[in-house]
Amino acid sequence: MTDSYKAINWDAIDDQIDKATWEKLTEQFWLDTRIPVSNDTDDWRTLDTDHQWVVGHVFGGLTLLDTLQSQDGMASLRKDTRTQHETAVLNNIQFMESVHAKSYSTIFSTLNTPDEIDEIFEWSDTEEFLQKKALRIRNLYHDDGNPLKKKVANVFLETFLFYSGFFTPLYYLGHNKLANVAEIIKLILRDESVHGTYIGYKFQIGFNQLGANAQKELHDWMYDFMYELYANEEKYTHLVYDQVGWTDEVLTFIRYNANKALMNLGQDPLFADTADSVNPIVMNGISTSTANHDFFSQVGNGYLLGNVEAMSDDDYKLY
Ligand SMILES: [Fe+2]
Ligand SMILES: [Fe+2]
Repeated sequence: MTDSYKAINWDAIDDQIDKATWEKLTEQFWLDTRIPVSNDTDDWRTLDTDHQWVVGHVFGGLTLLDTLQSQDGMASLRKDTRTQHETAVLNNIQFMESVHAKSYSTIFSTLNTPDEIDEIFEWSDTEEFLQKKALRIRNLYHDDGNPLKKKVANVFLETFLFYSGFFTPLYYLGHNKLANVAEIIKLILRDESVHGTYIGYKFQIGFNQLGANAQKELHDWMYDFMYELYANEEKYTHLVYDQVGWTDEVLTFIRYNANKALMNLGQDPLFADTADSVNPIVMNGISTSTANHDFFSQVGNGYLLGNVEAMSDDDYKLY
């Protein structure tokens, strides 16, 4: 510990990705309270109770994961930053994770009764497979001896574990239902896309500095961890989706996103599924929401900076 304290200087950037990410995240800032979710109440009443149950409970699961990111995730990553600007970016991400976690409550208070809301939170605080993934990630976040494993856990959560839940609003969006709920989810997804690629990029810097043996060890651990999470995710998906018959489609979607998570970390995909395997209605929901979904797609290939797309009217269409 030195005797001086260093002021952050944004005119002397060590890593241009920090600055580009800060600009991207602040440009796409949003708040749940600006989306008129109450316009979806007519659509909501057309859903039968099984489908309403799925919507409520996948959002309960997503609330838990965004709570984990806002309370533990970013605080844990902040212990291992390379630059002061990275700390600033993580501060931004942490606040947005709180916005994400809160936005599900905005949806619940519009669509669900107080008793239903209580039941959803009781479920998400106790459901076996949901708790298993949350606690597995939380424990890695608190293992300060393994900073690169924290980043793997973070990217697996951001780019993989959220997607069993994201499937439902994207599916409804593709069927012209719950458009305002979907708008919130698309804004969350747009954020998670940047978060996953940014943390993945920071992971790759550290990974590339390891020796061959350490890289191999971490690589093997990462794939074992992915298999473990996927096995748990299969059970979670059956539990949530069997009643509406969407399980197989959701599993395809999450395998596709598991590959994206591994690619964010600079690793090879694990599953055979590609974008073409996924229900096109759901894929369409992703692509329309996130014109900048692949903003950092070049980061994994030699850390080239992606081109920032100009904001268009589309970015503000519901505001
Ligand atoms: Fe989030
Ligand atoms: Fe995130």
